[in-house]
Amino acid sequence: MSGLATASDRVARVPNAVPSWGSGPEGTNGGSGIVNVASVPQRSPFRYPGGKTWLVPHIRRWLKSRPRRPQELIEPFAGGAIVGLTAAFEDLVQFVTLVEKDDDVAAVWQSILHPHQGRWLAERIVGFELTPESVRRELGTPRCKLSLRERAFKTLLRNRVQRGGILAAGSGLMKEGENGRGLASRWYPETLRRRIEAIMAIRRKLAFRHDDGMRAIEENVANPEVAFFVDPPYTVAGRRLYTYSETDHPALFRMMARVAGDFLMTYDNTAEIRRLANRHGFEMRLVPMKSTHHAEMTELLIGRDLGWIEAVHRIAVLGTTAPWAEGRGRAGPTAAPAEAGLPFPGRRRSP
Ligand SMILES: C[S@@+](CC[C@H](N)C(=O)[O-])C[C@H]1O[C@@H](n2cnc3c(N)ncnc32)[C@H](O)[C@@H]1O
Repeated sequence: MSGLATASDRVARVPNAVPSWGSGPEGTNGGSGIVNVASVPQRSPFRYPGGKTWLVPHIRRWLKSRPRRPQELIEPFAGGAIVGLTAAFEDLVQFVTLVEKDDDVAAVWQSILHPHQGRWLAERIVGFELTPESVRRELGTPRCKLSLRERAFKTLLRNRVQRGGILAAGSGLMKEGENGRGLASRWYPETLRRRIEAIMAIRRKLAFRHDDGMRAIEENVANPEVAFFVDPPYTVAGRRLYTYSETDHPALFRMMARVAGDFLMTYDNTAEIRRLANRHGFEMRLVPMKSTHHAEMTELLIGRDLGWIEAVHRIAVLGTTAPWAEGRGRAGPTAAPAEAGLPFPGRRRSP
């Protein structure tokens, strides 16, 4: 990832200099605005590189700020799908469609959402005795010899024993692991079973497409009832992390400019991406987050209208929530915007 823009870069190339979303909603850490991921329910069976658990409190605010609950949320680059899962579990939308191109990741979602295979997968996980030998044996079985559900099991196992959860070719096994537990340090069979069973229980609200996310967006481009959460492989780090990391970012931005519904994109904060966002008149906000190595970083949120960030604050100060979200909890923090270090409503620094 490239770092922050230089001052001249911001002034020259980013006319709507990226306002920083300095503090945030429920689940964020005081004045720093950094999401405390321990406060976010972990719902995905994956530990996903580039996963967006830290974004969940902001996603709630975004979807609850809509005048009407969106009919469908499409997550075209689903990966571990924490956003889609959260939206489905918390009834933030009526229906969620996850789209993923990677065959191995797809095998997991297809198995979990299949009427019978999900149970098999959960049982296989709790019945697996993890030793260095059993891991080598499982990982050594060629894909062509595996059924869909066996492939799903192998994918989740790899995700748990490989360094950083990275599934791309070339990723090695973790050595020391956590607390001297070595290979088993990220293998929590009961937790995985519970998460799989919980997803199975809301299967009616979820669909999975093993497909190109760009195609899924194009097919729904004219539907105003669809919201998109778009988290493509990042321009720099993606190559190391994912089997499919090449994304035509200019084409994706052109497509997003045509969608009739709402959308939210997340990106690394690079000059190329800011240029694309500016070209299409999209708004940008920087959000603070912590990397897996606890380094404080920022990522870019991009949307057509990010006024909901300020609007939700206004609602929160008045002590109400979005009309359709009544009874589902607060829409945002109780701190006044100034205390929270946010720009006041009506002082948006957009074009
Ligand atoms: C940044 S990750 C998504 C992480 C996800 N938001 C999460 O919280 O776990 C990007 C994902 O997009 C997938 N991907 C890459 N190109 C794709 C494409 N053309 N269509 C669908 N998925 C794609 C990658 O395999 C990867 O899983």
